[in-house]
Parts: sequence; structure tokens; C-alpha cells
Amino acid sequence: MTQNINIVFLGDVVGKPGRKIVKDFLTDDFEKVLGLKKEDTFLIANVENASHGFGLTQKNYEDFVGQGFNCLTSGNHIWDKKDIFTYIDEADILLRPFNYPKDTKGIGYKIFEFKEVKIGVINMLGRVFMSPYDSPWETVKTAIEEIKKETSIIFVDFHAEATAEKICFAKYCSDLGVSVVAGTHTHVQTADERIINEQTAFITDVGFCGDYNGVIGMEYETSLHRLTTNLPERFDIAQTNSCVLNGVLAVVSNDGKAKTIKRFCITKNYEEGIK
Ligand SMILES: [Fe+2]
Ligand SMILES: [Fe+2]
Repeated sequence: MTQNINIVFLGDVVGKPGRKIVKDFLTDDFEKVLGLKKEDTFLIANVENASHGFGLTQKNYEDFVGQGFNCLTSGNHIWDKKDIFTYIDEADILLRPFNYPKDTKGIGYKIFEFKEVKIGVINMLGRVFMSPYDSPWETVKTAIEEIKKETSIIFVDFHAEATAEKICFAKYCSDLGVSVVAGTHTHVQTADERIINEQTAFITDVGFCGDYNGVIGMEYETSLHRLTTNLPERFDIAQTNSCVLNGVLAVVSNDGKAKTIKRFCITKNYEEGIK
């Protein structure tokens, strides 16, 4: 029997403004925006920037678990809060990119059980304009082969900078039978969502969740100063009380083929401030 699975994926959550709008979205706006119940949805967010823009503390990890997320993905910033090393091996729903060296703490892919189906999620880093990580092309194949032994439903968060690398990687994953490839890392939502090969739902970048008036979640003044002077300066997150939330909803059938992908973007003003 064919069963459709709804997968909602929220782009990089940045600091307190990101955590605030995500929390409100889940409690107040989810059904209104998506026409679905949260409980009927496999819920994923990329959380590499969730704790003050850099990394993820254990407390913030536990808050996401409490909000009902089924899986959390990450990226190059996941190591920025040092306590990650003390809890990542016990963090059941958290993935770090798979293409780090083999003995790196944490895991890069996992199979989750959801409403009597199994969903494999893989987190990968790109290499163009990024650090020289292990080949995502070779490593993703290993993860897909392992997951395919148990399920046809496979979601990949490809955390990468270059649009061409992301499109090419999505086509490659599609040929290997992946259901969804959703890009993250640039924090800017792209308008190119589509189904590739009647198999894979794809978007180059989902976008981010955080302050709406800064520069990809960071303070405008610091960004401007860094860019105009070329001098190093510590980034701080923007907090203008105006927030944006970017995500996608993909519908995948239990044979692993994606049916639809829809992107969404909502903004919210918090005149009383963000607590
Ligand atoms: Fe990010
Ligand atoms: Fe990143």
C-alpha cells in the first residue's frame, strides 16, 4: 500500500532569534502555514548555528528534542561549542556531517522509525569554497548502500557553499535513489525547488531561521566592518526583534520517490523583544 510521508526541514537555526521563531512556528503557525499537523510530519532542522550563532549547547539540543524534532542535522559549525564533545555520542537525534575522518565523534547518518516507516537521514559537507573534507561523492555512497538495506526513504542535508556543486550532488544522489536532497549553509533560500528524475525532491538551499535584518543572521555593523576593512573581527548575532523562518515541506511515498516539494518563508516581529 502506498503511504505518503511528510518531511519538514528547517534551514540553519541561528541563535536566540532563530530558536524563538522556530519554537513559535511549531506551537502557533505550523498547521496554518503547512495545512498539516506537526505530529503527522517527520521534523528536521539544521542546528549548526543554534547556540549564539556557533555550534549547539547540550541545553539547546535538549530543548529541540523537547519540541518534538525527529532529527537534527548540522554542518561545519557544529564543533564551535566545546561541550558538543561531551554529549554528541549520547545525542540520539543529532547528526554531524558524515565526511569527517572515521574516528570523529558523533554519527553522520541514521535510520529513524516514524509511523511504521523507516527514514534514513544523511548529513554531508561540500568541498567547493570549503575546507578539504573527505569526498562527499564516495562517502555518501557508503551511507546510501547501508540505509538501502533497511529503507528506500533517504533524506540528505548537503551542507555546502557552491550552487553548482549542490545541483550536481543532488543529481548524483538522485541516480543513487535518494528521496530528498536539501541544501544548507548559505542561509539564503533559493527559488529552484523541483523534483529530479521523478525521484528526488531538491532545493539548492533551504535558507535559515534567525534575525531578519542582519546579514545571514549576523550583525550588520560587524559584517560591514569586516568586509570593508578586511580585518578580523568577532561576529555577533543580530537581534533586531524581527525574525525569519525558512523551510521546505517534501512529500515522499514509501517506495522512496518524492512527490512534491514546497518551500516556505515566514517573518515575525517581536516588538516586546525576544525572550
Ligand atoms: Fe549555517
Ligand atoms: Fe555552515
